[in-house]
Amino acid sequence: MASGSGSNVENIARFFEEHHSIKVVAVLTNKRDAYVIDRCNKLNISVLYFNRFAYSHSDIVLNLLKGIDPHLIVLAGFLWKVPENIVQSFDGKIINIHPALLPKYGGKGMYGRYVHEKVKESGDSESGITIHYVDENYDEGNIIFQARVGVENIDSVDDIAEKVHRLEYEHFPKIIEQLLKDSNG
Ligand code: GRF
Repeated sequence: MASGSGSNVENIARFFEEHHSIKVVAVLTNKRDAYVIDRCNKLNISVLYFNRFAYSHSDIVLNLLKGIDPHLIVLAGFLWKVPENIVQSFDGKIINIHPALLPKYGGKGMYGRYVHEKVKESGDSESGITIHYVDENYDEGNIIFQARVGVENIDSVDDIAEKVHRLEYEHFPKIIEQLLKDSNG
């Protein structure tokens, strides 16, 4: 599930392109003009769009997901909180990537550039990524993996963003692969 530029989606899809047992089946999005849709068009990945009502006030998205029956649901730049009906039906099967070292700089409104701005403002000497299970609260599920990167005083917000993105591209597909291997014994 993604609603942004989709560079992680593309990176994950390319990583699994030739994989013998893992495949990106579909991308679900709540933004009709998200760049991730253009990427999926080029990658020949199915895209499904839903609005707030289908997502939070009906079982439509839940049933859609049940129909797809994924082994893992990956949030890659998806901002809406996952509703209870979906969290409960896919317990332990939904993961998210957060562009900071949780529990720092998480929660509602803490995404993308806002996170890197906070890291810069706070003068932290490091940032990183957190891959975690998703529960009903923003950025609070159990942590699966973290990777760190040094932040220098001279680094701009864009520099921090770039460093963190590099970590995402390096680790996210591998963690997904590991989780799927583990879940299949
Ligand atoms: C990533 O930084 C990810 O950590 C966060 O949203 C961003 C998505 O970027 N959850 P992209 O759409 O994959 O380029």
